[in-house]
Amino acid sequence: MLAVSWDTVRLFLHVLAATIWVGGQLTLAALVPVLRRQGPDAPRVAARRFNLVAWPAYGVLIATGIWNIIAVSPMSPAYQRTLTVKLIVVAASGISAFLHARSKTTVGLAVWGALTGLTALSALFLGIVLAG
Ligand code: HEM
Repeated sequence: MLAVSWDTVRLFLHVLAATIWVGGQLTLAALVPVLRRQGPDAPRVAARRFNLVAWPAYGVLIATGIWNIIAVSPMSPAYQRTLTVKLIVVAASGISAFLHARSKTTVGLAVWGALTGLTALSALFLGIVLAG
């Protein structure tokens, strides 16, 4: 059996939270057509329920992300640049998710929803680049 270290715990929690934040959004988006058939309010009710796990996961991503930074320091300039881009994308993912949840118009829901999905996927991709 391979050894389990604090690095294992750190990455486990970071990736677990990423699966909820990113995977949950994609799964919810895929379920929207089916939910709509249950009633006009069903997608909003499901999204509100998802937010109860999504925002704690976002908090865990930030906390374990800071832990990651401490663990991988010192960093090369290229690593720092990639991390900076990732942090901008992470912030954009949180802001667009917040605006998506507060949106009342179809256009607002579509624009902020698409931005949330794109930025969340980009954060995931840049996380893999950092870990590689
Ligand atoms: C939407 C939010 C985020 C997502 C989806 C995400 C995703 C990921 C993923 C999938 C990895 C690769 C883990 C591995 O397999 O080794 C990773 C690594 C990393 N993430 Fe994040 N992350 C997010 C937020 C953050 C934040 C807020 C920070 C910093 C405050 C951060 C800093 C890092 C660092 C430094 C690594 C490299 C860790 C290492 O190589 O040991 N991440 N991230």
